Amino acid sequence: MDNKERLRWFHESRFGIYIHYGLYSLLERGEWSMYSERIPPKEYALLAGRFLPQPGCAVQWADTIARAGAKYAVLTTRHHDGFCLFDSKFSKFSTTQSAAGRDLVAEYVTALRRAGLKVGLYYSLLDWRFPGYFAPEKFPESRDALVEQVHAQVRELMSNYGSIDLLEYDGGWDAKAKTARESWIAFWRSRELNAMVRSLQPQIIINNRSGSEEDIDTPEQMVKASATGRCWESCMTIGDSVGWGYVRHNPNFKTVPQLLQNLCTAAQGEGNLLLNIGPEPDGRIRPEEQQRLLAIGAWLKENGESIRSSQRCELIGSSVVGEVDLNLQGGWTRKDNVGYWQIFRWPGTVATQILVDTPVRKVSLLTSGEEFPFEQNPDTGKLKIFNLPVNPPSPYVNVLRVEFSECPRRKAEPDLAAWL
Ligand code: GLC
Repeated sequence: MDNKERLRWFHESRFGIYIHYGLYSLLERGEWSMYSERIPPKEYALLAGRFLPQPGCAVQWADTIARAGAKYAVLTTRHHDGFCLFDSKFSKFSTTQSAAGRDLVAEYVTALRRAGLKVGLYYSLLDWRFPGYFAPEKFPESRDALVEQVHAQVRELMSNYGSIDLLEYDGGWDAKAKTARESWIAFWRSRELNAMVRSLQPQIIINNRSGSEEDIDTPEQMVKASATGRCWESCMTIGDSVGWGYVRHNPNFKTVPQLLQNLCTAAQGEGNLLLNIGPEPDGRIRPEEQQRLLAIGAWLKENGESIRSSQRCELIGSSVVGEVDLNLQGGWTRKDNVGYWQIFRWPGTVATQILVDTPVRKVSLLTSGEEFPFEQNPDTGKLKIFNLPVNPPSPYVNVLRVEFSECPRRKAEPDLAAWL
């Protein structure tokens, strides 16, 4: 399978859901609690005695994810605390060998496949329980044991759950977060690790957080396009940026328009949004997240054409790196000769796009197909769309579908003062 083919589903999807769920969910203060509060491993491990995910929680996840219009998900199979949601021969600190008595990864994989979703697994390389992680020189045996465990457990994940579509590492950095990526690769023996993964799962997509670039870049908490041709995915929380795991008192949930704008901005730069949920201690998706995901799903049903398999568009407002010009309304995605103007801030009855070099054939509202008259000045490149409703048809993002006679091009503007 060539690379383009292998990465195709990822490009088509544009939208996935991250799930941070583990023992930390019980503490209700986010997934970094163990380290940030320096909870000794022995004390932290007691949480495993009361970690009891509701039966069928993975089915609820899969159902909500599908209804949100996401095409894949990524579950924390183990986070930095080392607790595994899967059965491992190399650690007793897992859901199968504690109160839950279940392999949650198996349940998740089955539920996702049934819902027709692609399966992603997150795995943290670092494990806070190992002194050899924090002081590798001082505790070389612990360091070696940690790296051995990583290789053995990744092998388990790649061997025991059928075909896996996506592997997302995390925690490749050293404890002081000071070293360059090359040294992460040396520490985790990442090249060997990824070669093993690819030999077991030839179709898999791997992220860049083992230090090695692999297939996808993963900007965090911001939407930032990678170089053209490079796959990328922005991951983001729905609530505050600190706290991917459940945070009971989470004061800053993003609004549906904010979330949709992030999704659109990612699509404008040919990238994906991996939107995170942090299920409640018993595994249920909290209502604040559930409602937002369903609203996104309803929007995607009508406007998904402007998101799925989106391509970059040259027109102003297209996540072009180094852009000085602003698109006051929003931005553009494209599919071949069709441009999609994703409007975040409705302009009123007339919408103006400057520097359009390609003849327009037709302008319509994506949701209804209603057509609007337009005027184009071939000398200046100004495109004006008339008779739009005074108020935005949808309170979220509205999409104008603009058919061009060929791939839309931006008009060059050699003389910046020419319009004066
Ligand atoms: C960071 C954090 C982590 C979170 C992740 C999401 O690396 O350490 O808690 O899981 O980003 O991508």
